[in-house]
Order: sequence, then structure tokens, then C-alpha cells
Amino acid sequence: MERWYRNTVIYSLDVSMFQDANGDGIGDLPGLISRLDYLSRLGVGTIWLNPIYPSPRLDGGYDITDYYTIDPRFGSLGDFSELLNQADELGLRIMLDLVVNHTSDQHPWFQSARADPDSPYRDWYVWSETEPPDRWLGTAFPGVEKETWTHDPVADAWYRHRFYRWQPDLNTDNPEVRAEIYKIIGYWLRLGVAGFRIDAAPFLVESRRPDEPTTWPDYGLLRQIRETVSWRRADAVLLAEANVGDEELLEYFGEGDGEPTRMMMLFAFRLNQAIMLALAREDAGPVRAVLDRLPDLPRHAQWATFLRNHDEVDLGRLSDDEREDVFAAFGPEPDMRLYDRGIRRRLAPMLAGDRRRLEMAYSLQLTMPGTPVLRYGDEIGMGEDLSRPEREAIRTPMQWSHTDNAGFSRAEPEQLIAPPIGAGPYGYPKINVTEQRLDPNSLLTWFERILHTRRECEEIGTGEHQVLDSGQPHVLVHTATGQRGRTLFLHNLSPDPCHCSLDPRLAGDSTPLGLAADADYGTGVDLTAIDLNGYGYRWIRLHRSF
Ligand code: GLC
Ligand code: CA
Repeated sequence: MERWYRNTVIYSLDVSMFQDANGDGIGDLPGLISRLDYLSRLGVGTIWLNPIYPSPRLDGGYDITDYYTIDPRFGSLGDFSELLNQADELGLRIMLDLVVNHTSDQHPWFQSARADPDSPYRDWYVWSETEPPDRWLGTAFPGVEKETWTHDPVADAWYRHRFYRWQPDLNTDNPEVRAEIYKIIGYWLRLGVAGFRIDAAPFLVESRRPDEPTTWPDYGLLRQIRETVSWRRADAVLLAEANVGDEELLEYFGEGDGEPTRMMMLFAFRLNQAIMLALAREDAGPVRAVLDRLPDLPRHAQWATFLRNHDEVDLGRLSDDEREDVFAAFGPEPDMRLYDRGIRRRLAPMLAGDRRRLEMAYSLQLTMPGTPVLRYGDEIGMGEDLSRPEREAIRTPMQWSHTDNAGFSRAEPEQLIAPPIGAGPYGYPKINVTEQRLDPNSLLTWFERILHTRRECEEIGTGEHQVLDSGQPHVLVHTATGQRGRTLFLHNLSPDPCHCSLDPRLAGDSTPLGLAADADYGTGVDLTAIDLNGYGYRWIRLHRSF
């Protein structure tokens, strides 16, 4: 077996939305502990928690006021260590979000820095005495946040922030700030986490002062983070969020003697946007093109694939025409769009709740090179609540059952951290775990089956991927070849049934074997005549060695 992160399934969740154990209306760690068995049965191997630290939560917890403890609303450090213990028992790993590009403006460091020019924390942030020329440039949230430097009346100076104005950027040039980052990493590793998602990595390494002629971006910081992590815990993983251009991507992995020297994993943003475009156009071309162009990675480096995450679907790297097509198909109303580049919806409603299409889309994700990352609630096909602001639309309580508050909490409805989706086709009376668990044909049951099937296909996570010519523009045909064998995948992105004819020599002397499919296509597989339903998919093992 290769390294664990190459064949795990990562499940990302927000503790505050998952399960409330003490009835105060806010999800918590004891609630999550009570649901670990659910995640284990689903086939998840690793849980990535969105920030669990104390925070005013003006940005889903990505605005932190203390890096060394748990938000008291979620529980205590004791509860966290209990989570690690219970997860260990089930063979589940826990990853945390490492958000060190910025803090909350309520963090004591910032409060001290702004109040006193001689504060030891003054240089932990980025200040300007005069209005910076790039004040109006480069916000991460266009349409919502306007500036990247805000005047602070207490400090009587301008501070820099790439994100919201309540998230002042840390000055990562300052060696003291770097030392603190390593301390935070060491602390959580010592408690037993399996690794970190590095939030906003490109902003972390960019110049703090665009006018200064230094050597930027400073990937050395990523290298140092990596060294700290690997020294403290050899098998810990770093997964970076870096939605950057193709040329820059490899820099985030780094390379020395053929191995990654910086991050071991990167989210495959480029592939995500290609899949969205392919789904919208019902054309395999965009995925084919990206797969063909993916750079060779250093040994043990890995992509993390995803369809949806806790943010908007970011379409920023598509051309204007391409983006318009995705908007037209999946975000036709202006209110579904966000930050001039994205869609604030869950996948199920984007695909109009079409089960065949949803399964095909997830099958596609699960067969792409990399480690799949799933978002809580997507396994049951949850929807969004567009009456909530910005990305809050897709951050609603997990729908456990058709009972009060979706089984998320026993609090009074007005006490809940966010209202569960109640009405319509995606409301909890219709979409919930309890009903789907009992139904052999539910999306949840489908996910359980396919995730377990994927465990038999280590070549997806660690093998070589190759795109074949299907002769049909709307069908993606690809193979994954690993140490144990070779598997063929077909995905029909269009609603029309079709027929593919492949080279019978693909299987060599072996007899091809169906592993998974959208329907029963019979036992034997004739490679020269492969049927596919509309939105159909098939996983076919070509060959296996032992
Ligand atoms: C990342 C997170 C996003 C957050 C931002 C600022 O992009 O995914 O949710 O708002 O960083 O921390
Ligand atoms: Ca609670």
C-alpha cells in the first residue's frame, strides 16, 4: 500500500452545522463523536474540520481569535482529544484547517497591535501610515468587500487584508510570526491530528507589500511549514488551497530529488472547473483537455479532487464564454452567483436533482487522479438556502431525519445557528439520512457502495491515468493503471444512451470484469460494444495482478 493520503476519502464538515449534542442549537464535538459511526459506515477515511477555534464566526470560523483552543460553543480540548481517541478506534483520521494568512480583528494580537505603536504585536500585522495606492485592488470577495487596506481609527494607520476587513493579514515576513505558526502546527500535531489544510496558501506566500522589490512569492515559508510538520509527525499531510495558474501549481508541491518538498497535496481547482464546464456542456472535452495537460507530479504528491466545497463554485479560471455556459446551466438566477466568478449552490440542485446525473458526476470525481474530498450533506443530496447571505447559502444544518430541526438539534428553532432547509424538494422531510439509510436505492446507499468499491481500486489514487479516444464527444473514457492492475472508466455526460467501441486488446489476456455501473449491463463485457445509458457510467477492471 502507498501512503495513506493517496487512497483515503476526505469528508469535510463544519462542526457547528453537523450535530448538536447539548441542545444549545450549535453543533459540537460531542455531536460529531456521536456520528463517527455514520462516517465510518459511509466509507470515509479522513475528516477535515473547518476551523474549530474561537472566532466571531463572521467568515465561517476563518476569522480566529485563539489558535490554541476550541471554540467553547463546540466543547473543550478534552472533547477534542476524545474525538481523536474515538476516531482512532474507528481508523478515522482528523485534519484541521490552518488559517494563518490572517487573524480576526478581535484577536488579542491585533487588539494590542492597533492600540499601541510600541506593542510587541505591532509588526505582526501589515501597516501603512498613508493611504496605500493599491487600496482598492485585489480583494478576494469582489462585490462584497471593496478594499484591501482599511484605515483603523485606533491605530490611525492602514492595515492590509486580502479577505474581509475584519481579517487583518498577518505579517508572515516577521520571523516571530513564522515561529508562532510553527508552534501552532506543533501543538495540534502533538494532540494527534493527521495534518492540515493550508488555507489561502497563495496569499500566505505573496508579498505583504506589493511595492517592495523582494523575492516573491516566498515559497520558503511552505518549505519551512513542511519541515516542521514532517519532523514532528512523519506521516502528517499538508493539503494546500491554491487556486493558481498552471505554471505556479508545481511550485506549491516543490521538488527535490523527485519528491515534493513543500505541500504533499493540492486541491485540483483546474479539474473542478473543467468538470463543471463538461457537465454544463454535456461534453467530455474540457475534462479530457485538463487530464491531458496535468503536469507530472513529484513522487508521492497528490491531487485532492472535489465537486463542491464550503465556498462558492469558483469559475474564475474559465474563459468568459465558458463561465457564461456554466452560469446559464447551473446558476441562471443572479442571486445564485457570487463574487463575479462563482455559484453559491450545492451540486444536487445545480443538477436539478437528477439522480442519474448526480451519480455520474460523483463517479467521475471518484475516478479522477487524486484523493476525493466530499462535503457533508452531499452524500444525501442536500440543497441550498438562497435566502442566506453569500456562502451561508450552502452552510445549513446536516439533515439527519424528518423530525424537528432535521434531527440536528433539540433546541428551539430560533436558537439554531442556522435554520435547516425545511421546505421544497431539498427540505429535511424529504432529504434526510434516516430515510436514505433504509432505502437500498437511495443516494446515500449508492455512496456507501461506490466508496467501498473504490477501496478495491488503489490504481485510481496512485496509478497512471490515461484518456482514450471514445469516438464520442460526450463520453469520457479513461484508464488508471497501478501496481495491481488496470481499470477502465466510461462516463456519458449526455442524457442520450450510446454505444462505445474500444480496442479489445486493452484487456490483454484477461477477461474484463464490471466493478460498478449505473445499471445492470449484464455479466460479460465486450470491449468492442459497450452500452451506456444516458448519464451512464461504468467501471471495468481490465486486468489485475496479485
Ligand atoms: C479560504 C476559505 C474561505 C475563507 C477564506 C479566508 O478561501 O476556503 O472559506 O473565507 O479562505 O480565510
Ligand atoms: Ca451544542
